[in-house]
Amino acid sequence: MNAAAGESNFSVRSYLGVYEVQFVDDFVASLLSHLKEGDVLLVDQNVERIYKNRIGSSFDSHRVIRLDPKEELKSYEGVMPIISQLIETGFKKNNRLVAVGGGITQDVTAFISSIMYRGVDWVFVPTNLLSQCDSCIGSKTSINFGDYKNQLGGFYPPRLILQDPSFRKSLDAREIASGVGEMAHYFLIDGEDSFAALEAGVVEALKGGQVVTEFVRRSLEIKRDMIEVDEFDKGPRNVFNYGHSFGHAIEGYTRYAIPHGIAVSFGMDIANSVSVALGLMDAKVQERVFSVLSQIWRGVDFPTIDLNRYVESLRKDKKNIGSNVRVVLSRGIGDMFLERIEIDSLFMDTLEKRFSVYRES
Ligand SMILES: NC(=O)c1ccc[n+]([C@@H]2O[C@H](COP(=O)([O-])OP(=O)(O)OC[C@H]3O[C@@H](n4cnc5c(N)ncnc54)[C@H](O)[C@@H]3O)[C@@H](O)[C@H]2O)c1
Ligand SMILES: [Zn+2]
Repeated sequence: MNAAAGESNFSVRSYLGVYEVQFVDDFVASLLSHLKEGDVLLVDQNVERIYKNRIGSSFDSHRVIRLDPKEELKSYEGVMPIISQLIETGFKKNNRLVAVGGGITQDVTAFISSIMYRGVDWVFVPTNLLSQCDSCIGSKTSINFGDYKNQLGGFYPPRLILQDPSFRKSLDAREIASGVGEMAHYFLIDGEDSFAALEAGVVEALKGGQVVTEFVRRSLEIKRDMIEVDEFDKGPRNVFNYGHSFGHAIEGYTRYAIPHGIAVSFGMDIANSVSVALGLMDAKVQERVFSVLSQIWRGVDFPTIDLNRYVESLRKDKKNIGSNVRVVLSRGIGDMFLERIEIDSLFMDTLEKRFSVYRES
C-alpha cells in the first residue's frame, strides 16, 4: 500500500516480467527517488509548462527532451531526431528513458525503447486520464506510417509506472471525456455490473469527481485480466477493438480533432447500430448504451462526413482488405466478438442514420 496516495499498488505480469503501477501523490519526489544517472526524460512540453512550479529545477541533472504531442510525432520522421539526440549525447544500453505525458509521449518513448540497442528499459509517468486508465499497461508500442495509424510497433512494456492522480486536476472537459470514453469501452466489454457502475457514475466522472479513481482502477483491472492471458493480441484481446475500428476512422477523418476516447464512444455506438441492423443486438440495449455514450460526446461538434471517404478510412485500419471490413460487433453488454462484415447498402444506410443522429445530439 502506498500510504500517501491511499491506493495499493497494482502489478501486471508480462513476457518481460512483472511490472508495477505505483500510485503516488508527488510524481516529482517519486521520480527523483527512481532516477539513475544517465536516464533521459521525454516530457510532454504542455505538461512541463503546466507543472513548472512543481518540477522547478528537480530534473536539471538529467537530460530532458521536450515533445510536442502531435499525432505526426508518432512516425519515423518524428522519432528520428529524438534517436539522433540520444545517440549523440551518449545514451547507453543500460540507461533508461522516462516518459512523462499522455498516449503520444508514451507511444514515442515505448517505440524508441523497444528498438534502441535492441531494447532499453523505460519508465512511464502517465499524465492524462486516457493514459492512466488504459494505455499505461498493455505493452503496445505503435507509431503511424503515413496516413495509416499504429501500423508499426510491437509489445514492450515499461518497467515501472508512476501514476499521480493529481495530474487529472489540470485536464479540460474534453480530455476527461476522452478518458471516460476509453473506460466505457472496458466496462461495456466486461459486462452488466461494470456497465451499471458506469451508468450510475458517468455524470460525476465527466465532472472529474471522486468516482474517477474507482473507475480507473476497475478499468486497469479489466484490461490486466485480459492482457495477462493474451498479451500479444492473438485472440481474446481482439475484443478490445470494440469501438476502435469505427473510432479510428473518425479520428483519421477529422485529423485527430476528435480525441481518441470520444471517437471510440462514437465508434461503440456505430458498432452497436450495425449489430442491431444485422439482427444481432436488441434495439433497447443499443438505446440504453446510447444514453450513456451520448453524455460522453455531449458538446462535441460531429463533422459532416462523406460516407465513401469514411469507409475508405475504415478500410485503412489494420486487417481490412477488399469489400468487407473486420470489426468488433456486439450481441449485448459483455458479449462482443470479431466479425467480417460486407460494406453494402444496409451498412451505408446505418452509418448515414447514425451520423445524422450525432450531428443533432
Ligand atoms: N499504446 C497504447 O496502448 C495506446 C492505447 C491508447 C491510445 N494510444 C495512442 O495514444 C494517443 C492518444 O493519446 P492521448 O489522447 O493521451 O494523446 P496526447 O498524448 O496527445 O495527450 C492529449 C493532450 O493532453 C495533454 N495533457 C496530457 N497530460 C495533461 C495534463 N495533466 N494536464 C493537461 N493536459 C495534459 C497533452 O499535452 C495533449 O495535448 C493516440 O496516438 C493513440 O493511438 C496508445
Ligand atoms: Zn483506445
